[in-house]
This record gives sequence, structure tokens and C-alpha cells, in this order.
Amino acid sequence: MNISIIGTGYVGLVSGVGFASKGHDVICVDIVEEKVEKINRGKPPIYEKGLEDLLKEVVDQGKLIATTDIEKAIENTELTFICVGTPSSSDGSIDLSGIEKAVEDMVIPLKEKNGYHVFCVKSTVVPGTTEEKVLPLLKRSGKKVGEDFGLGMNPEFLREGIALEDFLKPDRIVLGGIDERSLDVLSIAYEGFDSPKQKTDIKSAEMIKYTSNALLATKISFANEISRVCEKIGIDVYDVMEGVGLDHRINRDFLNAGAGFGGSCFPKDVSALVRFAKENHLETKILDSVLTVNDEQPVHIVDRLNQIIGGLKGKRIAFLGLAFKGGTDDVRETRALPMVEKLLELEADVVGYDPEASENFKELILKDIDYSENLHDALKDADICIIQNDWEEFKRLEPEDFDTMKGDIIVDTRRILKKEEYVDKFTYIGVGCDN
Ligand code: UGA
Repeated sequence: MNISIIGTGYVGLVSGVGFASKGHDVICVDIVEEKVEKINRGKPPIYEKGLEDLLKEVVDQGKLIATTDIEKAIENTELTFICVGTPSSSDGSIDLSGIEKAVEDMVIPLKEKNGYHVFCVKSTVVPGTTEEKVLPLLKRSGKKVGEDFGLGMNPEFLREGIALEDFLKPDRIVLGGIDERSLDVLSIAYEGFDSPKQKTDIKSAEMIKYTSNALLATKISFANEISRVCEKIGIDVYDVMEGVGLDHRINRDFLNAGAGFGGSCFPKDVSALVRFAKENHLETKILDSVLTVNDEQPVHIVDRLNQIIGGLKGKRIAFLGLAFKGGTDDVRETRALPMVEKLLELEADVVGYDPEASENFKELILKDIDYSENLHDALKDADICIIQNDWEEFKRLEPEDFDTMKGDIIVDTRRILKKEEYVDKFTYIGVGCDN
């Protein structure tokens, strides 16, 4: 099948490479010439595990090309996926200007197109957007939906860092279509995928994406709330969740207490769903609390540390993990920001370290802190070490690695150290357990 993909961010490029590896002929479109040129040389403009090798393979085989020419891309394909970003506006709603601009560019090629063509939104959009915002723009071509063109919505469930794996072996594929004909075309695109497929209407597909992210975020805030109770009564939330997660109706995943959820998706999507419900005159008591717990959690961790050691003024803190999670340089909504800001407010002296995200963090934080080029320099002479995210490098730490510290306090927010190896020699403060 001939497929075009609009937008070569991590969703667009991963999907394009994934479809090409399944045998489709893919044209990726982006307005940024530099990105297009890089992709055609087999070099992904973003980092994702396995992407570079697979991109090179499909480019060499002639299965994927990139272009800035959207008209040609639509003319030469039967199905177009819209993978343009939908960032947050200041009021929590999503900013659709990128999608609108991309769809406006599709009007002329659609008008001039001879055959049937399906347009499918992959970007995360609130229910109703595809039919109420995208469809009216496409109709400006004078063509008729259901006759000349089809419309679909196919949400993505890709996790940053393992996006390619998630694309190639998804838990499920959700296909929303305006009619059977659109769904038939989408089904052909996913023929080579051995995963359960759900066919539904467009609004439900849009809602499935928001509901999935909102429920995952709820699990995390729930685990963080329970972790505070566990801290108070001196038991370990990770033991508790192990027992809880053995119930197949609950499942252990995403019940890891920590500093809260960050990234470009959960905070933005939960806020957008809350906003959407408000616009529909509905209250969202659970989701409001999910966001409140998430805002409180990083501050709670620093306050607890402050209380345990009786003041942080002048203490040198090795702060490990600036990205929103391990394995990425992405600092969007990272919990490191409110934690470091709170530490600075308490007049601590912070040295930040992250294998990839230091440069991005420097741009995010308005205040000056020190940065370390490597983990061991960060730890040297520190009074306290705080581990904020779950990089592999941090998981490999052994008790001896902390010997160069001046103090003995370790705050393990993601519980990646083996607590039993530390409790005798260090003051180990784990999120959700006694210390
Ligand atoms: C998330 C979803 O997992 C994907 O399914 C979805 O497609 C994507 O958003 C999206 O909407 O595009 P991602 O933001 O890459 O993916 O990151 P996750 O691995 O889900 O982690 C999100 C945040 O939750 C991180 O800050 C992570 O540290 C935190 N987290 C995760 C916890 O605090 N505890 C957990 O148990 C799991």
C-alpha cells in the first residue's frame, strides 16, 4: 500500500519506518527541509532505540522517502496519516494550529486527486476534533466524504524510548472510521500486525487515547498517594503494590511510586481531558485529584527529606536524573524541575547530572545550578544524593559508588537501588518506605 505520513516527529517517523518495514511504500512529509534531507540519508532527526538501523534499511530498499512536497505525497498515496504535534495551550486545551495548517495544505491536492483517498488523524486530539475541525477543512476541496475520500482516527500508544517496539508489537490497534470503506483501507495498512484490532467510530477512537493515558496517570498518582500512607506507618509501598498487582484485574504496571509523572503526554492529556469535560459542563473530581497529587509529590519528597535531616541550607546535593524518565533527553514536565526549585528555595546547593538531558534542563530552569559531566563527579563530596529518574546507569550503581560522598543520605525516588544493600551503611530514604 502507498502511505503518506505528515509530520516526522517521533510518532510520524516511527510510524513511517514501521509501516515501511512491514512492506508498505511510505512517503514522509515535513515542512523542515533539514529533517527531510537527514531522513533521506537514513539519519533520524530524533533518537529512538533501533530507529536508525531500521530507517537506513527501509531508505536503502527504497521503501521510504521524505519530502516537503505534500501535494505529490497525497497524489501518490492512498492513505495519509496526520502525525502533527498538538501542544498544550496556556489554558490546558490543545493547540490545533499545527494540524489545521497541515490539513489546509491537503485541500488542493485532494481537489486535484483522481482516486479515493483516506485521511487518518494519529495525533492526540480531543473527541470531536477529527469530524468537527479536520473534516470541514477537507470539504473545502469540494470533494465528498464517503464518496471521494474517507476519514479515520488511529491513536498511537507509543512510549518514548521504546516507540518502535510499541509500534511493531502493540497491545492493540484502535481504528476509528467515519464509514466501513475508510475502516477497510485502514485495516489493509495494519494487515501485517499480529495484535488485537478494535474497529470503532472516530469519537470513540479519540476518547480511547485520552482515557488510556488518564487511567495510567491515575494509577501513578494513586500509587503516590498510597506511598505517603506507607511512609507514615513504616511499610514499603513497593511490597504493597506487588501484592496488589498480582490481581489480574489490577495489574502491577504503572503502580511505581516516584516523583510523579512527567513527559509530553500524561500531564498534557489529563489537563486537556479535564478542560474538555469542563467545556461540556462536567466535573472531573478524580482527574483533578490526579493532577493535584502529581503537583504535590515532588515537593512532598523534598519536604520529607528536609524534615528528616532538619534543614537543607548549604547542603550539597547530587541530583541524578533531569529528564522526565530514564532513556531520553526529554525534559518536558520533568519532576526534576519542581524538585530542584524547592531545593533551591530551601537554600541547598544543587549539582545536576543526567546522561543526556543536562543541556535541555539548563534551558528549562531559570535559575543557575552546577552541572556535572559524569555521575562520579556529581557524587564526590555531596552531602545528599537524590535519584529522580530510572536511567540504566543509575540502576547499575553499587554501594561503593557512593563512598566519595561527604554525607550518607540517599533519596531513591524511583526505588532503583537494592534497599537492603544500603540500609546499614547509609541513611536510605526511599519514596514510599520507612527510612
Ligand atoms: C505515555 C504512554 O505510556 C504511551 O502509551 C503513550 O502513547 C504516550 O504517553 C503518548 O501519549 O504519546 P511516555 O510519555 O513516553 O508514554 O512515558 P511513560 O513511560 O508512560 O512514562 C510517563 C511518566 O510516568 C514518566 O515520568 C515516568 O517516570 C512516570 N511513571 C511511569 C511513574 O512515575 N510510575 C510508573 O509506574 C510508570
